[in-house]
Amino acid sequence: MSNSAPASVKKALSAQPNPSFPVRRMDYKFTTTPKYWMDNEPSLTHLFTGMSTLFPEGEAYFVRAVRALRDQIKDNPQLDKDIGAFIGQEAMHSKEHHAFHQSAEQFGLRPESLENATGLILKSVEKVFSKKTNLLLTVGLEHYTAVLVVTMMDSVNELMTDDTVRNLWLWHSVEETEHKAVAFDMYQHLYGSGLNAYLPRVTIFSFALLMITSMMMGYTAVLMKRDKQLLNLKSWKKLGQMMVSSHRIFIPKFMDYYRRDFHPNDSDETELVARTKAKLGLLKSADVLAC
Ligand SMILES: [Fe+2]
Ligand SMILES: [Fe+2]
Repeated sequence: MSNSAPASVKKALSAQPNPSFPVRRMDYKFTTTPKYWMDNEPSLTHLFTGMSTLFPEGEAYFVRAVRALRDQIKDNPQLDKDIGAFIGQEAMHSKEHHAFHQSAEQFGLRPESLENATGLILKSVEKVFSKKTNLLLTVGLEHYTAVLVVTMMDSVNELMTDDTVRNLWLWHSVEETEHKAVAFDMYQHLYGSGLNAYLPRVTIFSFALLMITSMMMGYTAVLMKRDKQLLNLKSWKKLGQMMVSSHRIFIPKFMDYYRRDFHPNDSDETELVARTKAKLGLLKSADVLAC
C-alpha cells in the first residue's frame, strides 16, 4: 500500500482478515522420477498415479463448486478469505500433479488420458447436480482426502523411493489438512446443520465414496494393463494387503462423517502437520497469502 493512501483507506484495508492458511507456489521438477516410485511395486505405483490423475480435474471441479456460491459468503469476511486461499491451494495442486503426469508419459502410461476421463465424468456430474449438490460432493471428497492424507503424512510417504514425488504428496497432504474445513464451513454457513442439511450431506458422501473408489480401482487396472502388469498377481496381492490395512484406519474415520454433529476440525493433526512441514522445509519457505 502506498504511504500516500488516505488514513481511512489504510484503516479499512488493515481491518480485512487474512486467510487462516497460506498459498504456496511450488514448481517441482519430475525429471528423474523412476518408473516404480512406490515401494518399487507396479500396483502400488499405479494406485497412486491413478489417484493423482483425479486431482487436476477434480480440484478444478472443487474450485468451480465453491466459486459458484462464493458471492453468498460476503457477510463472513474470514470464511470468504479462506475460500480464496482454498481456491489458490487447489489450483496449485492441479498444476503440480499435472506436471507429475507429464513425467509419467515417458513410461507409456498416458496418465493425461485419465485426467481427461475424470474431467468428462465431473463435467457431466456438474451439469446434472445443483450448485448445492456440487458443493456437497466437494465437501464429501474433501473429507475423504483429509482422512487419506493423515496416513500419507504418518507412514505411507516412507514407501516412496523418489524425494521429489514424496515432497509433492507431503506438500499436498499438509495443505489438504490446512483447508479441510473450508468447504464444510461454507456448506454450513449457507444451509445450516438441521436435518435438511444433514440428510443430503451424508447421501452425497455415500455417493462420493462409491464414485472415488470405483474410479481409483478402475484407473489402477488401466495403468496396470498399459504397463503389461495386469496379470502380476504378486503385485496385486501387495496392493490388496495395503488396502485392507489402510481401510481398517479409514473406515471408522469415514463413518465419523455420518454423525449429526461432525465437523472436520474434530480431529487435530497439528503435530503431524508441523513434523511434515519441518521435513519439507516449509516452515522457512516464503508463503504467499491468497487474496
Ligand atoms: Fe488438493
Ligand atoms: Fe482439498
